[in-house]
Amino acid sequence: MTLALGLSACSAAGAPGGQDERTVLRLALNQAEGHPSYIALQRFDGRLQERTEGRLAVDVYANETLGAQAEALQLVSDDIIALAIVSGTQLENLHPDFLVFNMPKVFDDVEHQLRVINDDAIVGDLYTSLEERENFTVLGGFTQGSRHIYTSKPVTEPADLAGLKIRVQESPLHLAMVTAMGGSATPMAFGEVYTAMQSGVLDGAENNEVSYVTQKHFEVAPHLSETNHLVGLDYLIVNSDTLAGMDDQDRQIFLEEWEATSLEHAELWAEATEEAIAEAKAGGAQFHEVDEEAFAQALEPLQDRFLTTPSQQALFDAARAAAGE
Ligand code: GCU
Repeated sequence: MTLALGLSACSAAGAPGGQDERTVLRLALNQAEGHPSYIALQRFDGRLQERTEGRLAVDVYANETLGAQAEALQLVSDDIIALAIVSGTQLENLHPDFLVFNMPKVFDDVEHQLRVINDDAIVGDLYTSLEERENFTVLGGFTQGSRHIYTSKPVTEPADLAGLKIRVQESPLHLAMVTAMGGSATPMAFGEVYTAMQSGVLDGAENNEVSYVTQKHFEVAPHLSETNHLVGLDYLIVNSDTLAGMDDQDRQIFLEEWEATSLEHAELWAEATEEAIAEAKAGGAQFHEVDEEAFAQALEPLQDRFLTTPSQQALFDAARAAAGE
């Protein structure tokens, strides 16, 4: 793959190092083309090309074509590609502070989450924390919205999950989370989940309504339980050398357009969630209200168990302080 892809930012035509050089930034995404992240990133590319007169472009590789998120992250770190969208759970494995934003109940809703992840006073150090060791910078986030459990049978309380194999992202926190909720947690990469549920290797998974539909999971796990157990978060990561190597003016444009993209994504998200719910229901999925109190109680001990350092606690407190503003 390394040989086939070549450099993360490939230059073509124009004088070497000159302003008319064209840089194509390859971006790895694990979502399908109908997903709001893909749509927002395509628009990012369009605006970037327009404002830089074609000097900067983003080429989005959807559907895990460049590998699952763990591989994509490594490709960015190794400067094989420039950009990737990765779930917070991937970064938790590289720096324990990222775990804080993967916790159930740290964010009350999407608005609260967006306030926190766009507040430089809270996230400034976090976003640069992997530059030295991993050679990538976090630029910001895309919400994953509220996540819910879905399975092949109705689940309304923790006891209903007993014995059910539920896929989780590759995160010790999320493994403990689904275990606490009553299920049997099975870590797996995103792209493998449909087939695993279809073949009965898994009984279900947990995700937002948009992935439930864009990945067609509702076809094989038609009962969605509105557990709202957490508001998930994706990050855009960029190879730090690629960012530093951009022409000053183009870097400025790149950062401005990314910020506009993250705002646009939030708007697309709300619409996409409504549409996904309607589509899932039209496709035969059933949505179930759950015993929220019972699930909340099951999840409570995770805080003491997983927030173990002063910096994690400080981030958690800062995030909570921004709730309900
Ligand atoms: C969401 C999220 C992805 C993540 C996926 C998962 O779709 O946006 O980044 O990989 O959940 O559960 O793995």
